[in-house]
This record gives sequence, structure tokens and C-alpha cells, in this order.
Amino acid sequence: MHGKYKALWLNDDGFLEVIDQKKLPFEYETIVLKTTDEIVLAIKDMTVRGAGVIGSVAAFGIYIACLENQNNYADLLVKAKQIRESRPTAVNLMWAVDKMLNLLKNSENLVDDAKAYAIKLNDEEALESQKIAKYGCDIIENILKQKNKKTINILTHCNAGWLAVIDEGTALAPIYEAKKRGIDVHVWVDETRPRNQGASLTAWELTESDVKHTIIADNTGGHLMQSGMVDMVITGADRVSANGDVANKIGTYLKALAAKDNDIPFYVAIPASTFDFNIKDGVKDIPIELRSENEVKYIKGIDNNGVIREVLITPKDSPAVNYGFDVTPARLVTGLITNKGVCEADFDKIQEKFNKQ
Ligand code: MRU
Repeated sequence: MHGKYKALWLNDDGFLEVIDQKKLPFEYETIVLKTTDEIVLAIKDMTVRGAGVIGSVAAFGIYIACLENQNNYADLLVKAKQIRESRPTAVNLMWAVDKMLNLLKNSENLVDDAKAYAIKLNDEEALESQKIAKYGCDIIENILKQKNKKTINILTHCNAGWLAVIDEGTALAPIYEAKKRGIDVHVWVDETRPRNQGASLTAWELTESDVKHTIIADNTGGHLMQSGMVDMVITGADRVSANGDVANKIGTYLKALAAKDNDIPFYVAIPASTFDFNIKDGVKDIPIELRSENEVKYIKGIDNNGVIREVLITPKDSPAVNYGFDVTPARLVTGLITNKGVCEADFDKIQEKFNKQ
């Protein structure tokens, strides 16, 4: 794919160009990132977001840092640390930085090698996403067969499409594949407060791909499940511990509880880069991002004159708290849809499939 992906690409000048996800769904704009500081800011302010894409940008960020430093590995380490620490929960970020540094440690031409390694890393991620699409879609087909239904209703949380993971997404990848296979699929899209990645990004992606969907307020899922209107749930993840606990956007845990109570399959789609084998108890040890209270207190939208505005929706002085993620215990997860097939969310099964000792 040579450095050209849907959410980001190397432009003709050799710099990283990304879709500005803060502007969607109202405006499609791209931004060129030419320095490490710009890479770090784009990750922190969520111009780019979604675990996989953060890792992808970090890999190209190492290349950008090499361009700045030319052949100075010591300088590169300083900049790599800034990139590595730009967000705390999605492990794909740390994975990509560490992998790049490891590959580059004996390099005699940092710039050329970093570019080649970043492209290779991203091409491999794209391939994994295609595999997730196929394995996940096989599950969709089985559920349809078992239930003898014409339409499948899938609930998803946040955005785990191609804006979040190169190049088909994770949770949305099987849905795109289902559309290709001619399956009648309808998606319940959780709005995903406070930043509304479901309402703005997932709904935008599905509209672009002509996939039937309905946006719901975050608290609607439980009612839909009780009413027989959800056949399965698929989400992505930002970090999965060695025992199969899943960190994903805040609110995912509540959907998993409701799914369990209603006997609805709850799947989590992830590439290998989302595993953190160093953490054995995800509920206890996965670091949870704490973001600005303003993301809860203000909401962004477009007014009748087409102007994008942010408005306060709470009493000005009320405090708010904004945890970015929660952890769904492995016991609530029906299966992990990975690039190596479906895997039980269980320590031994994960070790077996991913061959870690
Ligand atoms: O804060 P965000 O928008 O980066 O969070 C994204 C999510 O939680 C996604 O569901 C997650 O990254 C899974 S898709 C890789």
C-alpha cells in the first residue's frame, strides 16, 4: 500500500497527511504533520484517534522525528518518548514506538529505514484488519443462520472503523465485509458521549459506505437488547490484557453487562498490537485516561448558518469528571475477533494463539 491509507498517508513531499477527525462529520479536511511536536499535538487533541491509528501515526511520527534529527539516534530517543507518552490507554501507541525503535537501533540510515519500517508496520496492520473482517463476518453469517433471520442488528460503541484502525477498522471491518457478501446488516450506533465518536465518526463512515444504521443515545442499548432488537455487539479495544480483559471507550462495560443479562453475544475485534501481555489483570492495571472536564460540559455541533460551535450544557461552575475508558472483564466477552481467528478471552487460549510464554 506504500504509505497510502484511508485515514492517513505520506504526501508527495514525504510528510504525514491525516484526516482531521475533529472536523467530521461536518467538514472533511486534512492536516500535514511535519514535526514531532505536530505529531504529539495531533494525538493529544484527537485530530487523529482510535487505538490503531494512534499507533500508525506514532510509527510515521518516528520517521518524522528522524527527518528532524537526521542520523542522531540519541535525539530520536527523546522525541520518541514524547510521542510514546502522548496518550496513556491505547497500547498500540507504545507498541508502535517500541517496535520502530527496536528496528532502528542498528540503522545507519535512520530516515530511509524509518520510512520503510513505518510503511511495513502499517501494511501489516492493514492485512490484519482484512483478516478480522473475514473472521468477524463468518460469525455474523452463523448468527443469521442460527436465528433464521433476514437482517442482522449489530450494536457498536465509539468508532472502530477505518478512521480508528488501518485500513478497514476492527469492529466495523466485519460489517463492511457483510455488506460485500450481500448480508442485510443494520447497525445501532451508540452516540458515545462525551466526544460522540459514534454519532460523528461511525455514523459518517457508515453513511459513506451506504450501511444501514441508526444513532442511539448511549443509554438506549439495554432497552433494545431486552426488546430483541440486538443480535450481537461488536466493539474495538484500546488494550486487552493477557487474561482477556478489554479496555475500550467509556460505556463499553455497561453494554457488556446488558448483553450478558440478555444472552446476546458480545465480541471484541482487535489486531495483535492491542494485546498487552505485561498486564495480567486488566481491571486493576490498565491505565485509564482522564481527560478535560470541558469535554463533558461542552458539546460541539453545527448551527443553522453552517458554523461549527461549542456550547456549554451544564451549570458553568458544576464540576465534571471525564474518564476516557473502562475495562470490561474477560468473563463478559464472548470472543476476541483477531487476525488469527476468534479467540476465547482467556489467558491460556490467548497464549496458545499468540504463542507468548
Ligand atoms: O478516545 P478515542 O476516540 O481514541 O477512543 C477510541 C476507542 O475507544 C475505540 O473504540 C478503540 O480505539 C477501538 S478501535 C481501535
